[in-house]
Amino acid sequence: MNAAVQNPQPLLVLGIETSCDESGVALYHTERGLLGHRLHSQVAMHADYGGVVPELASRDHIRRVLPLTQELLTSCGHQLSDLNAIAYTQGPGLAGALLVGASIAHGLAYALNIPAIGIHHLEGHVLSPLLATPTPAFPFVALLVSGGHTQLMRVGGVGDYKLLGETVDDAAGEAFDKTAQLLGLGYPGGPQIAKLAERGKPGKFKLPRPMIGSGDFNFSFSGLKTAVLTAVRGKTLSDADKANLAAEFQAAVADVLVAKALNALEKTKLNQIVIAGGVGANLRLRAQLNQHAAQHGYQVFYPPLELCTDNGAMIALAGAMRLSAGAAVNATRAFDVRPRWELETLQRA
Ligand code: KG4
Ligand code: ZN
Repeated sequence: MNAAVQNPQPLLVLGIETSCDESGVALYHTERGLLGHRLHSQVAMHADYGGVVPELASRDHIRRVLPLTQELLTSCGHQLSDLNAIAYTQGPGLAGALLVGASIAHGLAYALNIPAIGIHHLEGHVLSPLLATPTPAFPFVALLVSGGHTQLMRVGGVGDYKLLGETVDDAAGEAFDKTAQLLGLGYPGGPQIAKLAERGKPGKFKLPRPMIGSGDFNFSFSGLKTAVLTAVRGKTLSDADKANLAAEFQAAVADVLVAKALNALEKTKLNQIVIAGGVGANLRLRAQLNQHAAQHGYQVFYPPLELCTDNGAMIALAGAMRLSAGAAVNATRAFDVRPRWELETLQRA
């Protein structure tokens, strides 16, 4: 992998992600790039409940983070004493889950006498395409599509995020998850809908493309979910019907996201766009965006597929970039977490 950070003083940064239902750790070296990462997904543990149970999530993070870190260090030929800094997700996310990562990061950093730096989870997602090659250059447009957020923004640099528009109700990933539930599929819904859609055809059912012509950069996905509910209520759908409905739903979300992304590129007069967050793993969205972008001469960048969803690598990278830019480090070692935190309030390092 490439090294997105250039720094006279090389840094080895451990990243820790525990904002929701994935325990992620990674090692990022400012000259050698991403050395490795480990992930433990809690999906199976939460599946019976149809969604994430916060208390169970926190307890599982406690069990996983240190063994994962040890395994990662060993596999990369490093030890704790080689670390120069620890980056952890400070928010937004589940308070208890965030506290696990923050406590471990600060405990280790204190013991090793190195800095710990709190990272905004969405900053991690937005910068994650820098872990792939080719690498985008600032400024660029970012389409952030995750389970909790759907935002278009102009990214001028690390800490320079100008929101262009966002969802007024459900996030795109949330719409995938809720629609999957309506179709009797498991959680998380995005990958399941995508899989089912492979066997179906869009257009057999007709779903709306909400706000596609609204002239702004906002989105609305809750009506789409209601339209799916109307299509399934009181009916016994065949497997073929379900596949067609999944295909139409996926097409509707992709149509809206692609249309607004292209508008944002036109309005900002930028020619690079990065797609980040779990829904960015959707291959139909990728194909459609790549095709339209190519027609207009725009370049599209994605994180490596496995780093679209939550992971420690994006947190390690964001920490390395901030520290390399001279980010101030909290010397008191007091820490807190920020379950609610607007990306736009961040500042440059
Ligand atoms: O970024 P992420 O891992 O977590 C948040 O920060 O929210 O995103 C998770 C979301 C879930 O809603 C999941 O259903 C969706 O990303 N997702 C997908 C796909 N893979 C994950 N949605 C559509 N297609 C996919 N292939
Ligand atoms: Zn995320």
